[in-house]
Amino acid sequence: MRYNGVKGLPVDMIHTSHSIILKSSEAMSEITAESVDVVVTSPPYPMIEMWDELFAGRDDQIASALRDNDGNLAFRLMHEQMYPVWGELYRVLKNGGIACINIGDATRTVDGVFRLYPNHSYILNYCLDLGFSNLTNIIWRKQTNAPNKFMGSGMLPAGAYVTLEHEYILIFRKGTKREFKTASEKFNRQQSAFFWEERNVWHSDVWDVKGTPQNMLDKSCRNRSGAFPFEIAYRLINMFSTKGDMVLDPFLGVGTTILASMASCRSSIGYEINPGLYKTISSVVNENAIDSLNEYLRNRLIKHISFVKERLLKEGKNALKHTNSNYGFPVVTSQETKLFINYLASIQKRSDLEFEVSYLTDAALDHRPSLFMSLMGSEK
Ligand SMILES: C[S@@+](CC[C@H](N)C(=O)[O-])C[C@H]1O[C@@H](n2cnc3c(N)ncnc32)[C@H](O)[C@@H]1O
Repeated sequence: MRYNGVKGLPVDMIHTSHSIILKSSEAMSEITAESVDVVVTSPPYPMIEMWDELFAGRDDQIASALRDNDGNLAFRLMHEQMYPVWGELYRVLKNGGIACINIGDATRTVDGVFRLYPNHSYILNYCLDLGFSNLTNIIWRKQTNAPNKFMGSGMLPAGAYVTLEHEYILIFRKGTKREFKTASEKFNRQQSAFFWEERNVWHSDVWDVKGTPQNMLDKSCRNRSGAFPFEIAYRLINMFSTKGDMVLDPFLGVGTTILASMASCRSSIGYEINPGLYKTISSVVNENAIDSLNEYLRNRLIKHISFVKERLLKEGKNALKHTNSNYGFPVVTSQETKLFINYLASIQKRSDLEFEVSYLTDAALDHRPSLFMSLMGSEK
């Protein structure tokens, strides 16, 4: 089976397809060159102990470097194991396509020496060498209140270490800026817009996303698998692609990127090397996800309506000059006037590893304008 990114932009587009491929993403022969619009992913983190077994199991040299307490060698070899994947991303992305790579650095004591292993810089440098351009990266702040978060010599200089409370989302572009040339591409781009107030948060370079509560995945499962929050994948997909695009996650884990793609009206492909994760993936990515995904989409609209109400209250009737033509509610800029969030109509399982999602394409069908009217009216 070969996959091509969805071309152009189908005003009447109502389906997306989602595939899980249980093999290593070092060679993604199922994907043709220049067919993917956006990559959203998070690899196993070198020198974080939970991933030692995976790296060492695939390279004896890593196993012996860890046994010999040779942290530098283990660190380098773990990164080398992922080089082919980064090379594959460069091959499969279209010109103008974006790769978002979530990675955290590692702190670890090896042979009595405590230090930081800067994973983000290793990946950053390698991707620059491949020819990617780096765009502004995002710092994902994961503040912890754990009592033991300060390490080292306490209040005494000079051996007290700064607490590591952030990860990175590295953002790369292949080639030149994406262009939207035809009328249908332009229209689809306008429908794929996000709200002004979302832009102000999503496009800032520090994110404070907590392990957002999500019905789709319980917390212990997320901790065990290293899954990122749904919110992270959803934002990145919506920031860097348009509806109908093809999303790729070469390190799928439990399938968060596929779920976020389904919610975003994008198609997706995910590679996972560990077939043992299939059971967890299918407990997350399945027909029953539809309600929580629609709930998430509905919340976006409700949040916008709250924003509108607050703004009108603070700044008066003329504060919002534009009206969204699909919902009838006010928006801040003309870029949001065609914004449309497609609710999911169905998720169908085509095989154990393939899903097709269809969407509602008409606002009138799901009563969202009246949702707005009733919310606006409810606090009169
Ligand atoms: C940090 S987890 C990804 C979590 C994912 N973002 C989520 O939300 O569930 C990394 C995943 O990559 C998988 N993996 C590691 N090396 C791989 C490879 N070469 N090809 C495909 N998957 C790989 C691991 O088994 C693990 O499930």
